[in-house]
Order: sequence, then C-alpha cells, then structure tokens
Amino acid sequence: MKAALPKLLLSVHGVKAFYGNIIALKGVDLTINEGEIVALIGANGAGKTTLMMTIFGNPRAQEGAILFEQRDIAAMKTHDIARLGLAQSPEGRRIFPRMTVYENLQMGAAISGQAHFAADLERVFTIFPRLKERSSQRGGTLSGGEQQMLAIGRALMSRPRLLMLDEPSLGLAPLIVKQIFDVIAALNKEEGLTVFLVEQNAYHALKLADRGYVMVNGLITLSGSGRELLARPEIRAAYLEGGH
Ligand SMILES: Nc1ncnc2c1ncn2[C@@H]1O[C@H](COP(=O)(O)OP(=O)(O)OP(=O)(O)O)[C@@H](O)[C@H]1O
Ligand SMILES: [Mg+2]
Repeated sequence: MKAALPKLLLSVHGVKAFYGNIIALKGVDLTINEGEIVALIGANGAGKTTLMMTIFGNPRAQEGAILFEQRDIAAMKTHDIARLGLAQSPEGRRIFPRMTVYENLQMGAAISGQAHFAADLERVFTIFPRLKERSSQRGGTLSGGEQQMLAIGRALMSRPRLLMLDEPSLGLAPLIVKQIFDVIAALNKEEGLTVFLVEQNAYHALKLADRGYVMVNGLITLSGSGRELLARPEIRAAYLEGGH
C-alpha cells in the first residue's frame, strides 16, 4: 500500500553530465518517493541511460546534487552507492554470459553478503521459476526474456531499496513483456519495492507508473502522474501513436 505521506528516497537536482566535452544531461531534476514506481520515457539518445548511470556514479555528475535518503551520493564510488541499497538492471541486461544462472545470482548477492543467500535465492526462483529450471545453464545461452529475468533477479539478490531498470522490455515478445511488467507491479504492491523504470515502451511504463518524467535532449520537459501523462496529446503524438 502507498504511504499517506510520501517519503523522499532519491532526489536529483540540477544534474549535468558530460561525455568528454559533450553535454548529455543539461540540468536534470527528478524525485522518487519510497514505494513509488517512477517511469522515465524519452526518445533514443535523450539521456535516459546516462541519468541512470550518473545516479550510479559513472559518468559523474559535474554539477548538481544526487541525494539518496538525504545523503549526497554524487561523489561516491559505484560500489558504495550499491551498498546503500541501489541496484540496477542495466540496458542490454549485461549478465555474465559464461557464468551459470546460479553464479550470476551469486554475483548479485555479493553486496548483501551470504547470510540471506539461500532465502534470497529462493525468493528470486519463486518470482522467476524459469530461472530455477535453468539454474545451471550459462547466462549467454538464455533467451532474451530469460536474460532479462536474470538481470532483474541478480539486482534483487542485493536486497535493493531502489530498483532501477533500464529498458526491461527491449526486444522482447509482448507476452514476456507482460510477465516482466507484472513482476515489477507485484514487487511494488506486495513488498513496497521502489522502482525507477526507464522505458521506450511509454504506454506500458506510464500505465504501470505512479508518476512519470519525459526527457528530451538531456532535459526533463514534462512530469506528472502516469495517468496524466498518458492522456496528454503531446505524449500521445510523440510516444504512443501508431500503436503501443
Ligand atoms: N559512452 C558514451 N560516450 C559518448 N557519448 C555517449 C556515451 N553514452 C551515451 N552517449 C551520448 O549521450 C546521449 C544520451 O545517450 P543515452 O544512452 O543516455 O540515451 P538514452 O535516452 O538512454 O537512449 P536510448 O533510448 O537509445 O537507450 C546520446 O547523444 C549518446 O550518443
Ligand atoms: Mg538508453
């Protein structure tokens, strides 16, 4: 259930990030409250992945602040940021192809330690029974949908407070996309997990999200509830027309 008084979990203020001397984020503001699903949508090259990576410290924010529970993490090392309870399923999944499913999940648990490993593994296998069936198969030989499940499962093994997903639906068949989105919804509803969802699939993302942001060219141009954004003509024209 959503808390009556939202508690700020992550806030991004005026963040600028560069690749060399090319500016990719031009002063981004965004907040995520505990227990929310927040979607970030935008066209190719808008800077969505860059924002997620910048929250993780690579590339660094050159200006602005990134606060996780009031603490400025903008200058922290990526593994220290992860230790605070942020986890991501990165764009393109980036599972370890030569390692088995089980070993990939072990890697995800490196941060939370061994104490809860068995319970956390069982939880991931309950969420994604397919991963249990495939636990000794090498990651690189999994289907795209299975790799996505593994990337999310690996992130969950660290017991995150904030789960960040970069384009989990990319390249997957509609049925698998639905499964993945149903899992995200269930984790949020049943466990109160906070989710930051980067998606090009604007329809699914905004339908699922409590709130959404639209990024254009390194800047947030629109924000609102998922429902509001879905109804806006400029969103429909730019991101939803021609079917979802
Ligand atoms: N490692 C990099 N080096 C140089 N430029 C980069 C790098 N990564 C991204 N960029 C540039 O930064 C801009 C934002 O890219 P980013 O990957 O964040 O966009 P995106 O919104 O995630 O796009 P997509 O929907 O295609 O994944 C683009 O112009 C891209 O070319
Ligand atoms: Mg991207």
